[in-house]
Amino acid sequence: MVFIKQTFFPWRETKNPYYIWLSEIILQQTKTTQGLPYYSIFINNFPTIEQLAKASEQDVLKLWQGLGYYRRARNLHFTAKYIVNELQGEFPNTYKNLIQLKGIGDYTASAIASICFDEKEAVLDGNVYRILARYFGIYTDITSANGKKEFKSIAIELLPNKNFSNYNQALMDFGATQCTPKNTNCYTCILNKTCFAFKNNEVTKLPVKKKKITIKKRFFNYLVLIDKHHKTILTIRSNKDIWQNLYEFPLLESNKNISNNNLLSEINSSNYKNIAFQEITKYNENLIIHKLSHQHIYTTFWVLKTKNTLKNSISFSEIKKFPVVTLTHNFIESFTNS
Ligand code: ADE
Repeated sequence: MVFIKQTFFPWRETKNPYYIWLSEIILQQTKTTQGLPYYSIFINNFPTIEQLAKASEQDVLKLWQGLGYYRRARNLHFTAKYIVNELQGEFPNTYKNLIQLKGIGDYTASAIASICFDEKEAVLDGNVYRILARYFGIYTDITSANGKKEFKSIAIELLPNKNFSNYNQALMDFGATQCTPKNTNCYTCILNKTCFAFKNNEVTKLPVKKKKITIKKRFFNYLVLIDKHHKTILTIRSNKDIWQNLYEFPLLESNKNISNNNLLSEINSSNYKNIAFQEITKYNENLIIHKLSHQHIYTTFWVLKTKNTLKNSISFSEIKKFPVVTLTHNFIESFTNS
């Protein structure tokens, strides 16, 4: 007998489309158990879509901090404002209308429509692709347009005649716990007698994902400026690049890893050239590599002390109010506790 530990997931107890939407966007970023605290924090801070719509983007990003892919949080906020202000707070209740919303694609629209409105829609997430590819022995690349179409039509064909919400969520659970990407549990699987991949020893080869992504290497030098009042400066990322509207220490990006001397010449051609620094310390000797899906950020934090007073400076305790990426958060934790 196999006992499965059942965790309580609050999104299983509701059909409120605002809550389901929130949970589905969070669960695209992380596993259910890790998503749970984020979901609870969002619901506690913004119990209604009107409250989310009224919040500042900075507050929304702060709650999202650590989940990554911050565009999802910005889209969530944008769409909450759109539903409240343009749709008079009426959450769209069909797949067709849901998919029109910013940040809601086929997956999220199918999930909300089937879970909240009992619409006959098939949810296709990574778990479902994996189960279908293995069980039926489908070698079509799941990242290709043809693959997406083929899997979607199989998923639709398999839908039962009722209980679309339970069916879709059970399938995702099955992929997350039984038909896992690695270390699969085939020997205890109820489908192993009819599963193509198990019978043909092809479990590790399926699903097929061909798309090769090229990873860009970037070198970030963060200037942690500290003035005579032990205050520092944060800047907001506003250009069309990663981490839009998140805060960070002043950044000098270089095309390779740089030495102390190179840093000085970079500073001399930056906005910070007029500050007289008494001391410059490289905080991390080894580059910190922050990996994103399409880029790896090789990072150095430089601590620069000045006897001047910095303009628009803030104390280190105030920094914690600002949304920052994990890279900066980890630095602040380490620096303020050392
Ligand atoms: N993964 C994402 N959404 C899910 C859901 N509602 N149930 C199970 N797994 C999920």
